[in-house]
Amino acid sequence: MANDRFGRFIHYLRISLTDHCNLRCVYCMPEDMTFRPRAELMQDDEILLFTRLFSDLGFDKFRLTGGEPTVRAGIVNLISGITATAGVKSLSMTTNGVLLERLAQPLKQAGLQRVNISLDTLDPQRFERLTRWGKLEQVMAGIHAAEAAGLAPIKINVVVVRGYNDQDVGEMARLTYQHNWQVRFIEMMPFAGQTNFQKQQVVSDAEILERIAKDLGEPAILNHGVLDGEARIYRLPGAVGNLGFISSVTHPFCAACTRARLTSDGKLRLCLLKEKEVDLLTPLRAGSSLEELRQLILDGIWNKPWGHDLAKGDVALNRTMSEIGG
Ligand code: 5AD
Ligand code: SF4
Repeated sequence: MANDRFGRFIHYLRISLTDHCNLRCVYCMPEDMTFRPRAELMQDDEILLFTRLFSDLGFDKFRLTGGEPTVRAGIVNLISGITATAGVKSLSMTTNGVLLERLAQPLKQAGLQRVNISLDTLDPQRFERLTRWGKLEQVMAGIHAAEAAGLAPIKINVVVVRGYNDQDVGEMARLTYQHNWQVRFIEMMPFAGQTNFQKQQVVSDAEILERIAKDLGEPAILNHGVLDGEARIYRLPGAVGNLGFISSVTHPFCAACTRARLTSDGKLRLCLLKEKEVDLLTPLRAGSSLEELRQLILDGIWNKPWGHDLAKGDVALNRTMSEIGG
């Protein structure tokens, strides 16, 4: 069992499969982003070995992230390998949806259970401006393919950026009238690469909620405000789906954190918003034993930082968002 020194049981691992991406969202990376050479990324056998090590330590919930995980060659086979690992109870993926129209069915067959799809606006021009070149219709086709393949419940991630899609939050919330989706509004967080932009254009959850209430009426809070993962859940009157609010900036949820991250270059990242990492891939490639790697993981988790200090202006600057995977 992997516990940290604050008594949190850490059993949720988010594995970044690649830092590469087929979009360039303005809140995530600079337009001229350079990516890692493939040899620096974890290879399939290395990912499977880490999955086994973490599941032996009690990790049972796994999520694949990127960059964009679906651009990784051989992803369907890799997912089959991960889901075949003893102890892996749940496997989901965060994706931009661009390649899902083709991949949803094979991914489901390989054992993937659910997807979270990033979609910030339903306006094709604003979508293109936010993603720098994305085509809205590809993502919509991807969402419908995911639903048809049973990668459910579908969650839609909306990062709200002032001047880009803040006027669209009502429209996004409206999707829950017809679809049993969870539309999640995410406060933009600052990382390297786009730090000033991320700080300046952030929209608080209070403002997002107010805009939705003004457009569509007051949503009711569900679960008595108890978080579902990291999200506070609401429902609009008469809606079939629900709304989620992920408010890392204004309402940190660090006390309830159960997660750790493995970056695509094989570093154990203890907190999304802290620079602290433990290199696992270099020791693995240098011939460390499984026992040594297990000890590195346990020590890293034990020393997981309590939480972030965004409120004090403390920003982790060693990676862009796309290099961590969210
Ligand atoms: N702040 C918050 N969320 C972000 N994402 C990307 N960059 C940021 C940021 N700066 C979201 C994406 C995607 C998920 C991986 O993280 O929209 O849904
Ligand atoms: Fe790519 Fe996702 Fe970053 Fe957009 S948010 S550039 S889709 S990794």
